[in-house]
Amino acid sequence: MNYQPLKYIYQSAGNPEASTLLLLHGTGGNETDLIPLAKNFGKNVNILSVRGNVVEQGMPRFFRRLSMGVFDEEDIKFRTHELVSFIKEIASKEKFNASKLIALGYSNGANIAGATLILYPDFLSGAILFRPMPPFKNMPKVKTSKKVPVFISAGNLDGMVRISEIQQYTSHLEASHFNIELHTINTGHNLVEEDSRKAIIWMHKNFL
Ligand code: MLT
Repeated sequence: MNYQPLKYIYQSAGNPEASTLLLLHGTGGNETDLIPLAKNFGKNVNILSVRGNVVEQGMPRFFRRLSMGVFDEEDIKFRTHELVSFIKEIASKEKFNASKLIALGYSNGANIAGATLILYPDFLSGAILFRPMPPFKNMPKVKTSKKVPVFISAGNLDGMVRISEIQQYTSHLEASHFNIELHTINTGHNLVEEDSRKAIIWMHKNFL
């Protein structure tokens, strides 16, 4: 496979057994965007932040889309395989425990994190999905054997995705044995302080 490396920033917590937050930015962002937010999760987590390899009119993304909200699903699959293969490589280079990886993605980054849950149901030990959309039109039936905890926060004024779609997505993930905590926040597609506050509580409950 013709996988390309991803640009990344790695910050170690200094403990090889620490969990690692995998930061996945939104469209037009980069690997520096979510680091200030990740710092609120405390000093006991490593940070691995990557930049999407796709560029749409100058804006980095994690996979191609055909139009707003319409995804190139073949590219999602390819980029998800590329990302997972890259993370495995980087884990042995940077010496973090790849079986303690918690994705934290916003928008396009949440969507590739969701694709990772579906295509590799036991790869992540947890996921925080801020403003996600279902990555596939027909979601493949899968099963995680680890009851992977997943935090989702949706904006009830989000113009990009309807709450009913998020509820369907959530039901599909629950049927796949993911352990979902869904929050609906009174805002749009933008991230607000309440997103990180709720995600930090979830993180402490499940991992810290
Ligand atoms: C996507 O393309 O993944 C979604 O439309 C969200 C975004 O624009 O990042």
